[in-house]
Order: sequence, then C-alpha cells, then structure tokens
Amino acid sequence: ILPLLLSALVGYLLGSISFAILLTKAFAHEDVRAHGSGNAGATNVLRVAGKKASALTFLLDFCKCVASVLVGYFLVKHACVANGVDPEMARLGMYAAGFCCMIGHMYPLYFGFRGGKGVVTTAAMMLLLDWRVFLICFAVFLLVFLKKRMVSLSSITAAAIYPVVTFCMTYFVDCCVGGLPALYVVMATLVAALIGATVIIKHRANIKRIRNGTESTISFKKK
Ligand code: G3P
Repeated sequence: ILPLLLSALVGYLLGSISFAILLTKAFAHEDVRAHGSGNAGATNVLRVAGKKASALTFLLDFCKCVASVLVGYFLVKHACVANGVDPEMARLGMYAAGFCCMIGHMYPLYFGFRGGKGVVTTAAMMLLLDWRVFLICFAVFLLVFLKKRMVSLSSITAAAIYPVVTFCMTYFVDCCVGGLPALYVVMATLVAALIGATVIIKHRANIKRIRNGTESTISFKKK
C-alpha cells in the first residue's frame, strides 16, 4: 500500500506543475486563467499566448503524465517483485499515479488549486495504459474536431467513449481471446469510467456553451 500512496503523491505533485500557467506567463506575461475560457490548458494557451506556447504546453503536460505513470509502475512493480505478488498488479501503480497527476493538473497545489480540464493528461494515460484504446479515442477526437472545430466537444466525446472502448478491447480481445482474467477487464473499465467522468464534469461550462451555440471554435487560418 505504501508504494501505491507514494505513486499517488508523486503523480499529484508532478500534475500540479501547470505548464499552461507558466508558459503563458513566460510568452505573454499574462495569467491564462484570466482570459479566454479561463482554463489552464493547451487550448486556452493557444488563444492567449499563441501556437508555440500551446504546443509546448501540450508536450510538457503530456510528459508530466508519462513521467508520473512510469514512476507509479516501477514503484509498485518493485514492491510486487519483492513481496512475491503478480507483477501485473503494477498497473495499480500506473492508475494511482496517472489519476492523481490528472487531479493535480486540475487542482494544482502550487497555483491556488485552479488548473486545467485534464484532456492532455488523459491522453497520455490512455496511451500508456492501452495504445489500442488511445488510437480509437484519438481517431474519434480528430473526426469530431475536423467536423465541428471545437476542442471541448472532441474531448467530451473521446472521454465518453473511453470506458466503452476499454471494455470492448479488454473483454472481447484480451479476456475472450487472450485469456486474461476478468478482474483485469473490471479494473481497466472502472478506471476509464472514472477518468472519463472526471473530464466530462470539468467540461460543464463548455457543455452549456455548446448547447447555447456559443462555444468557441478553433481555426488555424492566419487572421
Ligand atoms: O483542453 C480542454 C479543452 O477540451 C477545452 O478547453 O479552453 O475551450 O475550455 P477550453
């Protein structure tokens, strides 16, 4: 249990580093939360500080989640091996560190607990937990984005299908064909549902704007 708690703590502390806030300060001398949607995420950085700052925010937010998940994996795997527990249980360390990194990103310790919506951190976690699920959710994200040009709507859609895709992949492929225990399906699906629901809840204001027809769209054309 100690390595699990440690993984969660490392995840939270790393997640609390808000690159959106830091990079918007560095590039535009502004607090990203005082402009646009008020969100400390790559999409809002694009509005406030431009493409370069936004791309860097995306990359660094992605990396902090990858680092958290890897730390969680190795900490718990080490403990599993030392105690003769199935090393597959190291996934619990990945879940704890990744989820807490997302919570840190949303409620950052160093920035008054006002952060982002966890979309990039979710993408990083999805990729590390199951790249097949990541590819499907990313393809759907892209399709919705190309059609509607709203990052929020694309994120909400990808978050909503995340548990469904996880269940289908782990149950029909890993469990039925690969013979993996059903516990694995339950764990993976529950974690995906928790992450998906958290991301959707953080998009409450966006959902209102989408319904009102006032949500902002992204265009890459030069103004
Ligand atoms: O990255 C979060 C995205 O889904 C929405 O961002 O700034 O439009 O609320 P924003």
